Amino acid sequence: MNALPNIQDFDDPNFDPFVADELLNGEIADIYTPLAKLRRQAPVVEGNYLNMLSIPQSLSRPDRREFTVLSYEHSSAVFSDPESYSQESFLENLGKTFGRTLTAMDAPEHSRYRRIFQKAFLPQTVAKWGDTIVAPVINGLMAKFAGRTEADLGQEFAATYPFAVIYRQLGLPEAEGAVFHRLAVAQTLVYNDEAHAFEASRKLGAFFAALIATRRKVPSDDLASELINATVDGETLPDEVIGSFLRQLINAAGDTTLRGTSVFLTALLQHPEQLAALRADRSLMPQAIEEALRWDSPLTWTLRQAARDTVLGGVEIPKGSWLYVVIGSANRDEAWFPDPDRFDIYRDRKHRNIAFAIGPHICLGQHLARLEMTRAVNAILDRMPNLRFDPDKSPAVIRGTTLRIARRIHVRFDA
Ligand code: HEM
Repeated sequence: MNALPNIQDFDDPNFDPFVADELLNGEIADIYTPLAKLRRQAPVVEGNYLNMLSIPQSLSRPDRREFTVLSYEHSSAVFSDPESYSQESFLENLGKTFGRTLTAMDAPEHSRYRRIFQKAFLPQTVAKWGDTIVAPVINGLMAKFAGRTEADLGQEFAATYPFAVIYRQLGLPEAEGAVFHRLAVAQTLVYNDEAHAFEASRKLGAFFAALIATRRKVPSDDLASELINATVDGETLPDEVIGSFLRQLINAAGDTTLRGTSVFLTALLQHPEQLAALRADRSLMPQAIEEALRWDSPLTWTLRQAARDTVLGGVEIPKGSWLYVVIGSANRDEAWFPDPDRFDIYRDRKHRNIAFAIGPHICLGQHLARLEMTRAVNAILDRMPNLRFDPDKSPAVIRGTTLRIARRIHVRFDA
């Protein structure tokens, strides 16, 4: 029944996309002190966020002006005004490898396809995945900690489970996971290694075209089949758009959720009294997750392009300019979140964080991400009593200029 071809790895077997990815991301731990300094000077400044943190980048062009948006108010304003701030900027970077994804589309095309995708991500579908996919993946992973008293929750847990969830959602053979992951990550290297980024895009594209054709003939209960069958007012998704979505999925869903979980675990371990409170009262889980997403947002910035001449925060923005909307700065804006650097799961949630953005491009997978983080951290709290940092190992440090993560989280717990 499964007539799928194998996923083809890179022609050069020695190529390591993860090294290039780390370079691109920057390994800075404290992005928040420089961001606060800039934000206090002005909510919107001319220039490129990455340059401001001394990260090499090749996005700038001499004929294009760039602005960085730092405040919560103005970041929200940009996300909520798609007529003034478009997604066109993505055509010059991620759109080159992902193809026609939601992120690279504007209305009316975006609204047309987004409502069909939403059909495949209805709350009841996400809840079903919680039981049929997320729970078995997490239970399987937790089994390997049985009888142990120490672990690296960064490498042994967070780094693995969101990808395993996606492989199961797609019905991919487990053995193909590693190649799939390497190709998916390489697609984001459009700035610093176009050749490998395009090779990855081509190979994943060929695989997904075959997967979609197979599922069209013999539907299954996997995500590709859900997307093929999703219909709104008689309209369905073209194969090319489904293929691009699947290409983006590992990065949009896997890499972000892994990072969100790693940040959440690190924040709790750094605040043992809040960890104990959450262990004792799991109804605190939703607010604890929101606080972790606010406090150190997994994706720190995203791009928009001015679709017309506008004024933002008193700054004139000419049509065609690029805007770096720094979610990580907006979520630490003291005007909206008092004492913003403090991690506090009891924080007044009058203002919602924008870790998933807001507006028409708000994260399509936000409910799935929250569900995965909930199940993951509940499993850890259930099965690892007296969880604490390992005092004999190097401490967990959250790093990154674009995507945040604590790669290693060495812990001890009672057997
Ligand atoms: C903690 C985990 C996650 C974070 C922090 C996150 C963050 C974001 C953000 C900030 C955006 C908006 C980007 C922009 O418009 O420039 C976005 C969009 C998106 N996310 Fe997520 N995401 C997460 C998990 C997921 C998951 C699990 C999925 C699974 C389907 C997913 C799928 C998408 C898609 C398809 C879009 C594009 C939506 C559109 O343009 O209409 N994300 N995400």
